[in-house]
Amino acid sequence: MTPDDEVPLTGGFVNDVVRVGDTVRRPPGERAAFVHALLRHLAAHGWPGAPRYLGDDEHGREMLTYVDGHVAAQERQPESVTSDESLRAVAVLVRELHELTAGTELAATAEVVCHNDLSPKNTVYRDTGAGLRPVTFIDWDIAAPGARVHDVAHVCWQYVGLGPSVDDVGEAARRVRVICDAYGLDHRRDLVDTVLWWQERCWRGIEAAAADGDPAMAALRDGGVAEQVRAAHRWTLDHRDALERALG
Ligand SMILES: Nc1ncnc2c1ncn2[C@@H]1O[C@H](COP(=O)(O)OP(=O)(O)O)[C@@H](O)[C@H]1O
Ligand SMILES: [Mg+2]
Repeated sequence: MTPDDEVPLTGGFVNDVVRVGDTVRRPPGERAAFVHALLRHLAAHGWPGAPRYLGDDEHGREMLTYVDGHVAAQERQPESVTSDESLRAVAVLVRELHELTAGTELAATAEVVCHNDLSPKNTVYRDTGAGLRPVTFIDWDIAAPGARVHDVAHVCWQYVGLGPSVDDVGEAARRVRVICDAYGLDHRRDLVDTVLWWQERCWRGIEAAAADGDPAMAALRDGGVAEQVRAAHRWTLDHRDALERALG
């Protein structure tokens, strides 16, 4: 039973997330202490790209600021969400996250802190006058020290939709380049291989956790998600040369 003042938020696959007034309550992830320290660090710099961590509530759930706007959770999205301008703005936000964490204790010995789950479903868009643009990333549960290319490759996979639903490989490759240029990614040689690494890790991870009895992962597997990601992995392998050529 959900108390009257708790509004369930849909769009996520994994967690029971509710809204209470201007806050979001969600079960803390396995590495909550790290994530909370990260969110505090980003808040101290006044960065608008992440919600604020407000402490835990009486049920042990983390409290975050509710970020008003449009979460791009559905398959079909308004043109402004999928536009090159919004892609560029996503890449710029990722660059800001990386610059704010490079060389900090949070990044430890890695280049930066990566969000590790950047996708339209985890992005709040808002009308800035010129149409919907990304303003804030949510769902920071698996943020961790990592390499810049990890987040950039995940963005290319998720926001361009690299997989069998692409009907124009040249256009997909162009959009990958838009992301890399807006981010200012220096070393692009590993980009496509990193997309492949994410896709393989994702479908194998769902299958393994489901086989281990994780109910959320079993639901994803039974809903065909692991198979879809596996197909995306095959697609990227098949089009690897074209994508790499476009990156130059
Ligand atoms: N801080 C927030 N502000 C606004 N909406 C949020 C916020 N956090 C989560 N949501 C909403 O709740 C949904 C699920 O939350 P999310 O943190 O992505 O959990 P999951 O791990 O289940 O994907 C999101 O798709 C979004 O619609
Ligand atoms: Mg989510």
